[in-house]
Amino acid sequence: MRKKIVAGNWKMNNNLIETELLLSKLKNSNLAPNVEVMVSPSNLFLKTSIDFLSSSKIEVVSQNVHNKSNGAYTGEISVGMLKSIGINKSIIGHSERRSHFQESNETLLEKSKLCLENGLGIIFCFGEELSDRKMGKHFEVVENQLSTTVLQISKNKWQNIILAYEPVWAIGTGETASPDQAQEIHQFARNIIFKKFGKELSENTSILYGGSVKPKNASDIFSQTDVDGGLIGGASLIAEDFLSIIESNSES
Ligand code: PGA
Repeated sequence: MRKKIVAGNWKMNNNLIETELLLSKLKNSNLAPNVEVMVSPSNLFLKTSIDFLSSSKIEVVSQNVHNKSNGAYTGEISVGMLKSIGINKSIIGHSERRSHFQESNETLLEKSKLCLENGLGIIFCFGEELSDRKMGKHFEVVENQLSTTVLQISKNKWQNIILAYEPVWAIGTGETASPDQAQEIHQFARNIIFKKFGKELSENTSILYGGSVKPKNASDIFSQTDVDGGLIGGASLIAEDFLSIIESNSES
């Protein structure tokens, strides 16, 4: 059975005080038992966040990690560093990493392999740009992103892979994919996994949707057959909104 998940990506927002305030609001709330909840604060506050949430079911995950295990990479953070403070998952390939930091599918495959070989699970993001969709190339782009990255990873590592479909045109824009558009791509991605790895794995892989998920549209998106939850940006910075989105997934 695949899991229902809601993960909040806080990106480069919130200083230490703000991070603790948001964490305490989440920690002191009743969270639906059937939804896995994750938050991804700045790397600078990961350890503090883990300690802060020690008696909570909320998991702290990293927003990124470097593709080499160690060495002269000033300013970067390694898989081993994350593991050593108790982090067990990282977001990989967010479109902001792809576009602002030129992370290619090749780099993302290297990163994903390094994570999984060292016991760090991944939330792997993929999704087309607006120009791709306008040209009707969204299926092609998604297939290419998946086949050059996660589909190269051996089947026995897939229990630690979560996918997140994030159409670039819907991220931080207020424009959301319609529930049908999300379902169409999620089903397509699941079918790609099915063709490569078979029914069991395809049905057990959680595929999240990300891109302007808000309390008002979360239920409709999460109710789609192949949508297992969300990777939430802006709305995850407001405790009430994030909690409402978690609740929507619980009821879907
Ligand atoms: P958004 O971000 O919810 O602010 O659109 C989503 C994401 O970047 O994962």
